[in-house]
Amino acid sequence: MRHTIGVSCKWTTVFALLSSLLLLVTPAVAVKEHDFKKCHQSGFCQRNRAYADAAEAQSSTWASPYNIIHDSISFDNGQLKATILKTINPNGDTERFPLTISFHKSGTARVGVDEEKRQNKDITLRHDSQARKERYNEAGSWVLVGGVELDPEARLSHQDESQVNVNYGPDSNHEAVVRLSPFEVDFRRDGASQVKFNDRGLFNMEHWRQKVDNPEPKEGDDDQSTWWDEKFGGNTDTKPRGPESVALDISFPGYEHVYGIPEHTGSLSLKQTRGGEGNHEDPYRLFNSDVFEYVLDSPMTLYGAIPFMQAHRKGSTVGVFWLNAAETWIDIIKSKDSTNPLSLGKGKTSTHTHWMSESGILDVFVFLGPTPRDLTMQYGELTGYTAMPQEFAVAYHQCRWNYISDDDVKDVDRRFDKFKIPYDVIWLDLEYTDDRKYFTWQPDMFADPISMGEQLASHGRNLVVLIDPHIKKVDGWAPSKELIAQKLAVNNKDNEMYEGWCWPGASNWIDCFNPKAIEWWKTLFQYDSFKGTMENTFIWNDMNEPSVFNGPEASMPRDNMHFGGWEHRDIHNLNGLTFHNATFQGMLSRKKGELRRPFILTRSFYSGSQRLGAMWTGDNQAEWGHLEASLPMVLNQGIAGFPFAGADVGGFFGNPEKDLLTRWYQTGIFYPFFRAHAHIDSRRREPYLLGEPYTEIVTQAIRLRYALLPAWYTAFYQANVDGSPIVRPMFWTHPDEEAGFAIDDQLFVGSTGLLAKPIVQQGKESTDIWIPDDEVYYDYFSYEVKKTQKGKHLTVAAPLDSIPLLMRGGHVIPRRDIPRRSAAMMRFDDYTLVATVSKAGTAEGELYVDDGDSFDYEHGQYIHRTFALQDGAFTSIDAEGRDTKAIKAGTWLQQMENVKVDKIVIVGAPASWDSAKALVQSEGESWTTSMQYHKADNGRAAFVTIGRVGARIGHDFTVKPNL
Ligand code: GLC
Repeated sequence: MRHTIGVSCKWTTVFALLSSLLLLVTPAVAVKEHDFKKCHQSGFCQRNRAYADAAEAQSSTWASPYNIIHDSISFDNGQLKATILKTINPNGDTERFPLTISFHKSGTARVGVDEEKRQNKDITLRHDSQARKERYNEAGSWVLVGGVELDPEARLSHQDESQVNVNYGPDSNHEAVVRLSPFEVDFRRDGASQVKFNDRGLFNMEHWRQKVDNPEPKEGDDDQSTWWDEKFGGNTDTKPRGPESVALDISFPGYEHVYGIPEHTGSLSLKQTRGGEGNHEDPYRLFNSDVFEYVLDSPMTLYGAIPFMQAHRKGSTVGVFWLNAAETWIDIIKSKDSTNPLSLGKGKTSTHTHWMSESGILDVFVFLGPTPRDLTMQYGELTGYTAMPQEFAVAYHQCRWNYISDDDVKDVDRRFDKFKIPYDVIWLDLEYTDDRKYFTWQPDMFADPISMGEQLASHGRNLVVLIDPHIKKVDGWAPSKELIAQKLAVNNKDNEMYEGWCWPGASNWIDCFNPKAIEWWKTLFQYDSFKGTMENTFIWNDMNEPSVFNGPEASMPRDNMHFGGWEHRDIHNLNGLTFHNATFQGMLSRKKGELRRPFILTRSFYSGSQRLGAMWTGDNQAEWGHLEASLPMVLNQGIAGFPFAGADVGGFFGNPEKDLLTRWYQTGIFYPFFRAHAHIDSRRREPYLLGEPYTEIVTQAIRLRYALLPAWYTAFYQANVDGSPIVRPMFWTHPDEEAGFAIDDQLFVGSTGLLAKPIVQQGKESTDIWIPDDEVYYDYFSYEVKKTQKGKHLTVAAPLDSIPLLMRGGHVIPRRDIPRRSAAMMRFDDYTLVATVSKAGTAEGELYVDDGDSFDYEHGQYIHRTFALQDGAFTSIDAEGRDTKAIKAGTWLQQMENVKVDKIVIVGAPASWDSAKALVQSEGESWTTSMQYHKADNGRAAFVTIGRVGARIGHDFTVKPNL
């Protein structure tokens, strides 16, 4: 059903009807699991797992064949270099592998291993392949943006025949102990092991070898059946370089939980993968794929890959980043350490991982924490922080496949207004194009895109249109002609332009690894070129895994060739990022002199994609299980450095029941990327169609998101400066509370202290929120003081019209309370500040705001406040101690001069605030304003409302009771 290519609208209707009928008789959707490889169907995964099994079976006698040559070791300016010798057969023959361990100023270490023979191109390729002979070593140039400055303070503290020690990191409290025979690295912090490489002896770099035809296999020979040509699903991968995988075991001693390595469905705390009750049978797989109708709770690969893993225990977080763009599998096992006689059988659990990539060099970064925040910060330093978004992008997005005409779009737009439901963006899927040729409009249905864009713009709204990487192969259409003439597409193994099938039928794929292709792609987005687009048009990049309907595992053959002679296998997981990047460049060059932040949604991603836009979790289903699964997925994106994430609200496939759709909106308002989307065969489900009471409930949920946009935007800002997740799991905010380490169904919004636990199960009318600390918690809506206890669950009622949302004491939450049509319409509204008084009697919070559109914030054009409630006063000061008067205000900042604090609410206010008037002091003046003190009542906290505060948001002010 997914592959409905080029059907007319009428047929679409008939088809939709037929499909709905079919849906009544067949189970909704079934995953095509067999279309995707399991480990045993992937040659290198199977080989490395067998290697691990052999090592385990011979545990006492197993010796890793990799040894560092003692005389090869050198250490200079924060870098250790050496050569590793691999013994490749019983005769003692060896191969050489250059090793580099770099120690960075940022406190991270990087271990790199290459293969000398391939590095020197001293190999021959089969099938007359024109592919590169080296192992792929350019991932870093796409991914890394900083954090790799060498640390001249790192020093060799010990060296003997068996090991070398290097001290590095903050206060020199990090240490890498490099063992020579066999090669092992033990990363220690304050003298204790945290991360160990090759301590199980599974390090394996498959050296190059010449194929010997028709070998007579002898007893004890390697099983060569998966070394050369490899078949799957009717496709043959010619593998001109033969076996070349790279694998390593990485252990986290004393760490029970590991997180990260999105994108998968399932719990935030990753499961074991070698079978056993409740465990997975297969390793977690990273091979970006168009896995339509995906299964829940599975290590199966999805659309994107971030090979960053964090290990966590009370008091410490450490991690690794496996910089390899080829297909990767990760096995996880856990062991109880009972060797400590003092542990009385209650030994610590350790986690052992085994990473396996099909090709490329070994390139791994090690983070020694010790906090989750240190990790997200250091990882962001390496791969970049979340881009500051367009302000509208943080608001609500309305999408479906498809709004069928410009009139349809205008009508939906009007109906949102009629029902007073705010939204900021309406999306056009595939069918807006003329015959699936991107950069064109279907001439009958979208005859007047400009008037559509203008109607949207009149309420500050935006349009997003889909642009995919497959270019329809058709005569007489300029983009196809240019792509072919200028040789900008991906080639097949014979170095001729690759042709495959996707939405438009026969297509070619732009090769965004090619700088010339990027230059060409950029021209297509210019307003003059993509006619009908306007300043409020933005882009959706889909199918960029890439999805190829007739390709192996619904993607490209691995022996396809990219720019620079790299095989597709080498760069597969980076492909989506490079397309996203090309579009990003395109959006930056729509018009000379126009400097605005692009907004581009991507389905496929890799480490670094966070610099370019948002992601969503692809084709989920209108089922409760998928709603539930969305929370750990979104949380995982946050801790893995790509927090601008969301799931299709409502579920892509199928028709959600009204209660499901309602609950999904109540959950979706807590996704950093909040978009409803639906399959072409599903019924219309815009919130106003739901009928009462659902429409009203959903409207209230969306309005809650809008009221809190200042808090959300501030959370994006924090992600932008230090990589903090926008929505935060318990282990991240409370790293010492063990009972929270596996919790992945509740979240904090930024640093606001807002603790949400959306209802994701059918018929559930109450929920238990786990309380992570001794702080006071208030109900968001009623100000009721909750009777909480640290580490215990709090049961809250949650009938369909309510959202379990608490406010932790000690925070200040910025809001804008007047409901309007769009975020843009709220841009110059006054603020409400809600302070929640902590047990200690204080509160603190932050507001960041800029023009939400340009890059002027890089030149000081923003407002950044710190609010504090203490010593009987509420104050606002510049968060960075800037002299704001000295900043030359541009247009936006000037307009913000008129934006004030309208209301301050102090929840849990002490009796000292019991006064009829408040005194406001700001900009050398003071005035009084009225306030109401509400005494605590029947479980509800005492609170104060100070109205018409009148202080300008961009200026320092103090408010206190006028006693
Ligand atoms: C893919 C996308 C989906 C989109 C469809 C048509 O399946 O994941 O969101 O609607 O393609 O473009």
